Amino acid sequence: MGMKNKMTVADVDIKGKRVIARVDFNVPLDENGNITDDKRIRAALPTIRHIIGQGACLILVSHLGRPKEGPDPKYSMKPAAERLSELLGKEVKLAADVIGEDAKAKAAALKEGEVLMLENVRFHKEETKNDPAFAKELASMADIYVNDAFGTAHRAHASTAGIAEYLPAVSGFLIKKELDVMGKALDDPERPFVAILGGAKVSDKIGVIESLLDKVDTLIIGGSMAYTFFAGKGYSVGTSKYEADKVDLASNLLAKAEKKGVRLLLPVDNVVGKEFDPDTESQVVDSDNIPEGWMGLDIGPKTVELFSEAVKGAKTVVWNGPVGVFEFERFAVGTRNIAEALSAASAVTIVGGGDSAAAIEQMGFSDKITHISTGGGASLEFLEGKELPGIAVLNDRK
Ligand code: 3PG
Repeated sequence: MGMKNKMTVADVDIKGKRVIARVDFNVPLDENGNITDDKRIRAALPTIRHIIGQGACLILVSHLGRPKEGPDPKYSMKPAAERLSELLGKEVKLAADVIGEDAKAKAAALKEGEVLMLENVRFHKEETKNDPAFAKELASMADIYVNDAFGTAHRAHASTAGIAEYLPAVSGFLIKKELDVMGKALDDPERPFVAILGGAKVSDKIGVIESLLDKVDTLIIGGSMAYTFFAGKGYSVGTSKYEADKVDLASNLLAKAEKKGVRLLLPVDNVVGKEFDPDTESQVVDSDNIPEGWMGLDIGPKTVELFSEAVKGAKTVVWNGPVGVFEFERFAVGTRNIAEALSAASAVTIVGGGDSAAAIEQMGFSDKITHISTGGGASLEFLEGKELPGIAVLNDRK
């Protein structure tokens, strides 16, 4: 795995060329349309600076959100283009459309070193359908395609995959970095290798759990997922959110871990509440003792200690997904403690997924983590060992 054989933008001569670069500027916006986290834009800067620094004309393409009904100002790329302009300290033009007259005129008028951002590529339903005619239209504006949208690399869309049929296709530096760091952890990890998986659903993570069972020394499971595993062990889980139809699967995974000699850690205690509510009454109970009418909302203090110890002894740690209801302040404690344990570990630490990355950032630990992935779904699929369509289409080194 990894992308040792893929060409990057550093391998091609782009001076004076028109470069169309797919980036993932799918950034969170508040109710006033202000960007609340520009990490994905900052992460694309090395590639963007390289392209304009080489004297190429740069056309950027991204999606934002999931607009369903064509152009919608709510999903405009305008805030992202403005933020990029601030970060670069230079003008970023914004096209009024994607493959329309305005985009084509502005793309044709670009001079060396200038930057144009197309409107949200999902304003066309052809994008997510990977429509060849649409991909060809996008390609017609440029001489070369650069993919640096790691967060969208698991999508086979027109701007992430189809376009590579019509142009030479190379990766940007963000994709290279993501795959190099995560590929090394999976292929040749320093051991002990500990993975922490949280989040809501076992069904979202089965593939990752199965694939990691072949690689890790310790697998830690938190979040709502843990309650499905408790049910698999025969514990009663009260009113905890769990997947009744995945209980057998969870017990199979427990058995598999045992067979493979992987230490699988589940929470030993939990913060439980009466309701799914930030102000609900709460108490700490052992995992085999969750009372009727109570639901698990976070890991308990003994579990924090157990998980933190495992992280402390590790040489490689991969973390994806919160271990409690992170959006409720009182039940974000477990997730914060995991973030703290990772930041203190003397290990290669890799964090993927929006909430786990947010926990690290909110606590100001970002620079103590080896790599915070810009991908949610993409990093999960990578950990699962799946081929990412946005990477597969890139040209191999000769
Ligand atoms: C993400 O935020 O995970 C990526 O930008 C992909 O977005 P999507 O799930 O709407 O395809």
